Order: sequence, then C-alpha cells, then structure tokens
Amino acid sequence: MASMTLSNQTSYWRNADAEHFMHPFSNYSEARAEGGARIITGAKGSWLTDSEGNRVLDGMAGLWCVNLGYGQEELAEAGYEQLKKLAYYNAFFKTATPPAVELAERLSKLAPPSFNKVFFGSSGSESNDTVIRMVRTFWQLNGEPERKVIIGRNYGYHGSTVAAAAMGGMGGMHAQGGNLPDFEHIMCPYSFELKHPDESSSEFGLRAANALEEKIQEIGPHKVAAFMAEPIQGAGGLIFPPDSYWPRIQEICDRHGILLCADEVISGFGRLGEWFAHSKFGIRPDTITLAKGITSGYQPLSAVLVGDRIANTFENANEEFVHGYTYSGHPVACAVALKNLEVIERDGVLDHVKTIAGPHLKKRLIETFQDHPHIGEVRCDGMLAALELVKHKETGERFAGDFGTVTRDECFKRNLIMRAVRHTMILSPVLTITTGEIDELVERARTAINAAVEIGLNY
Ligand SMILES: Cc1ncc(COP(=O)(O)O)c(C=O)c1O
Repeated sequence: MASMTLSNQTSYWRNADAEHFMHPFSNYSEARAEGGARIITGAKGSWLTDSEGNRVLDGMAGLWCVNLGYGQEELAEAGYEQLKKLAYYNAFFKTATPPAVELAERLSKLAPPSFNKVFFGSSGSESNDTVIRMVRTFWQLNGEPERKVIIGRNYGYHGSTVAAAAMGGMGGMHAQGGNLPDFEHIMCPYSFELKHPDESSSEFGLRAANALEEKIQEIGPHKVAAFMAEPIQGAGGLIFPPDSYWPRIQEICDRHGILLCADEVISGFGRLGEWFAHSKFGIRPDTITLAKGITSGYQPLSAVLVGDRIANTFENANEEFVHGYTYSGHPVACAVALKNLEVIERDGVLDHVKTIAGPHLKKRLIETFQDHPHIGEVRCDGMLAALELVKHKETGERFAGDFGTVTRDECFKRNLIMRAVRHTMILSPVLTITTGEIDELVERARTAINAAVEIGLNY
C-alpha cells in the first residue's frame, strides 16, 4: 500500500468497494455501474478530504450527527484514555462502568425535571426498539395489555430495524419486509405539499394534528399505547410543523392518556440551538430518543430518556425488564459523549447556533433562494434547512424524474454535500460552522442548483 500512488490507491478502494461493500440505502446495480463509491479519508471542522485530495464542504454533518465538527482532538483523547483504562464491560448483571453512570446522571440533569432514568443503546434504531418494548410493557404493567398500537406519521423516520421501520412512515421501507402489525400512521404536517390554498397555516396545523384524534377513534382509544414523532421530521423531508400543531397533539395525547414519545435523534444536542427541541415546541414527552449528536458521531451511542411515569411503573413492578444490548452503556462511547457535552457547553455551541450561525444561514438562504424561480419554499431553523425544488414556482409543479438526486449529484460534483429527499434539498451542517463557510456553502448550493435546473428543463 505504501508504494501506491494516490490514484492507484483510489482505484483499489473503489474496486474493492464495488466488489464487496453492500452500502446502506443504496442501489447495487447503480453502485456497480459507477465502479465504487467516493472514498473519504479525512476531515477537519466542516470539511472532508477524499482519497484524491479534494476538499468537500459537508453540508450534512455526516448524517446529521457531527455536531461539533470533525477532528476534535479532545473527543479522540477521551476515547483513547477510556480504551486504555477499560475498553469494555457490560451493564447486564448488577455491574456498571463510571462513564455510563456519569453520562446517565448528566443526561438526566440536562433533561426536563420529570426525566431521571436513561436506557442506553448504540443507534437510534435500537433505542427506538427499546421505546417500543418499553411502552408496551408499561401498559401491561398498568393492567391495560391491549394497549399495543403505536401511531407514527407518514414520512416519519425512526430507523431501519424491522420495528423502527414499521413505526416510521416510509412506504418503500414497509414494502421491503419493514411492516408489522400494531403500527399505524397519520398524515404529517407537510404544509408545502398538503396545505389547501384556502387554509391558513394554523388551520392546516390543526387539521394535521386532528388526524391523530381520528386515528385514535378508528383504532379505539383503549388499544393505543403511544404516539411517536420527531419534533421536526428530518429524513422525511425536513418538515417543520405549524405553531398550532404540537399543542393540539399534546392535548389529544393527554386526553386519552396516550404516551408521547419524542424522537430527538436529529434534533437533540443543539441542532436547533437548544439541548432538546421538544422544549421549543412546548411538548411534554414521556420518552425522548437520542443518538447521533450525543457523541457528535465520534462513537456509536444512543439513549432513551425515560420519564418518571414509565420509570416509576417499572420500578414498582419488581420484575425484570427482559431487554438490553451487549453495548448498552459502552464505556468508551459514554466517555466520548461526556467530553462532547462538556465541549458543547464550554464553547457556547448552542449560543453560536442561536445567535450567529443559525440566523446567518437563514438570512443567506432567504437572500439567495426566496426569489429563485425554481425554489418553491425556503425553510430554516437553527442548523437545519430545506429548499423545495420546483419547475414552476406559481403552481408548485415539480421537475420530472428523480430531480432531487440529479441536484444532489450536481452538488457532489462541486464538492458540496447536500441531501435530497424526493424534491427537497436539505442542509444540516456542523454546529461549529463559521459565517464564512456558510457563505461558501450557499454559493456552492446556488451554482449546483442552477446547473441541475438546466438539466431538468432540458429533459
Ligand atoms: C429521527 C431519527 N430517528 C432514528 C434514526 C435512526 O438512527 P440510526 O441510523 O442511528 O439507527 C434516525 C436516523 O437518521 C433519525 O433521523
């Protein structure tokens, strides 16, 4: 390997990739035809480096997770120190490790006062599976075992295990073995596509929330265990609910005694300028799922924050919760998470998002795209933003084909990572991004979108 040139190395990796690596969420015939993936070999701050030495501006913080940016040595050192001291021990049989205990306490203090317990996993999907088993067991312990149904939303994303896929609202995932009984879905508050022209935003928010009441009545309230939702839907297209939405959802859950489960895998740890986004919407959840930004993606770790209502029921039941993972509370991942939280706090990262980076991103996107003839809507809050691609602004007609992917590829060619969800382009940059980098990002996005539009108009 040492004697290989850069281009030889790249061909070796790309060939081996095409031959052997089954990527997640990928089309394998396309991957084969393209001769392997782009190989990312390093990163610092907001910038990736590929195997050919190109610098790529990462507008997605990896997969919405590298909140502190790449190359934070303190996090690497925290992991290394813990690896040397105690690389692994489990938490199954009345044992624990210091980082897991300290992180459980730290998260309980960051969370609202009614949260005092934490259950760890290694991914958002795993922790959402924990939520599913926990809420159903909660109702069994409460003497209402028929309460099994969990209601999610169309375009909701809660992960890729069978149960998490069934709880999410992605039709394509359900079709590939990702469907199970006792999961139901309601419409999502996607006003750009679903709001009627004669409806106000507030009326639309209430209509979308009332779909929960209708679904509960259809199923029978005595059969519904929980409503599961992301405060802001991420992978489903960055859907921001109208202000009227969450208060009505909360009221419906309260009225029927249904548990409200918030999936904060994307929105936690500063993405919207707060530790947790539910506080921005006035949601009072019973569980909060966390992952991604908990370690800034430096280690695989996730957690369920368990509210007192559930935790007390389990404690009073005096029976074993027969659930857990080999890596629940992994000491290295927890040590990195503790350092991540310390740095976010010490460096004022939430404030940076709230007062500098978030407002700057919003301003630059609005200046650049609000009047763009092929952008139907600009949405931005904190370090989350979406641009709706349209062929005709007046009618909202979309471009033909998989135009989001065409646009994403044009970004990629210009060394910018943006994500495409159907016809929506998404940004979720690292939280430490500078205003200069935001300017660069928006300029690259503008050039790439204009190039894609040329292609789309000439199909
Ligand atoms: C809201 C939400 N929940 C759960 C998950 C699943 O997390 P993981 O990929 O770590 O299993 C994701 C992943 O993007 C997510 O966005």
